[in-house]
Amino acid sequence: MSSSLANESNNIVWKRGLVSHDQRCQLLGQKSLTIWLTGLSASGKSTLAYTLERILFDMGRSCYVLDGDHVRHGLNRDLDFSHEGRSENIRRVSEVARLMNDAGLIVITAFISPYKDDRKRAQDIIGRDQFFEVYISTSQKICEERDPKGMYGLARAGQINEFTGVSSPYEPPQNPACVIDTSMSLPDECACQVLAVMSGKIVLSNSHHRHEGDTSARQ
Ligand code: ADX
Repeated sequence: MSSSLANESNNIVWKRGLVSHDQRCQLLGQKSLTIWLTGLSASGKSTLAYTLERILFDMGRSCYVLDGDHVRHGLNRDLDFSHEGRSENIRRVSEVARLMNDAGLIVITAFISPYKDDRKRAQDIIGRDQFFEVYISTSQKICEERDPKGMYGLARAGQINEFTGVSSPYEPPQNPACVIDTSMSLPDECACQVLAVMSGKIVLSNSHHRHEGDTSARQ
């Protein structure tokens, strides 16, 4: 195979490095993947993402959370909450997740990602085998009762436009790998439900990683 991929129309050449994806995963003793959390604002995505990260980290896994509230302060600070702005938000995050997966990391994303087509494109960018969609199905009633940032209140009062669930749509996944209602279980229990569904997808069976075999930690 050639050592580089060319995009001739743009005069861009993608030069392959000397370290393969498999070698990177071998070094880290894990398989890379992206756990894609989708759900309404205040549904519990961030809490679950950071709980998953903590548990995986304690199991010796290298992981990183990409969170909408953070990414929109930096990389995606130029984007609004229009359909177009959200699509571009999800496209860029998908590309970042793909790069982080390529580096061997486990990525956990916490974005409303309300549009089916955008999540499908995320799956295409990240790769079907690496993309693990988790629907945070916590009811809108509960989300509005929680309203930790007061945003549902402001949206209902017409002070925030295009707010998901109020004045902008949310399209639930049809066939997610996992469905979690964060009002039914504690964060650790929700995280363990996710990990139970994806057990075996992360740990390399022939890994020599020092934490190998520690997959039952905190379960
Ligand atoms: S997404 O729709 O593009 O995936 P993202 O997850 O990045 O959204 O950001 C959602 C966060 O932005 C919410 O948790 C909330 O704090 C904040 N936010 C501000 N305005 C809006 C809005 N109009 N709709 C939804 N969330 C908003």
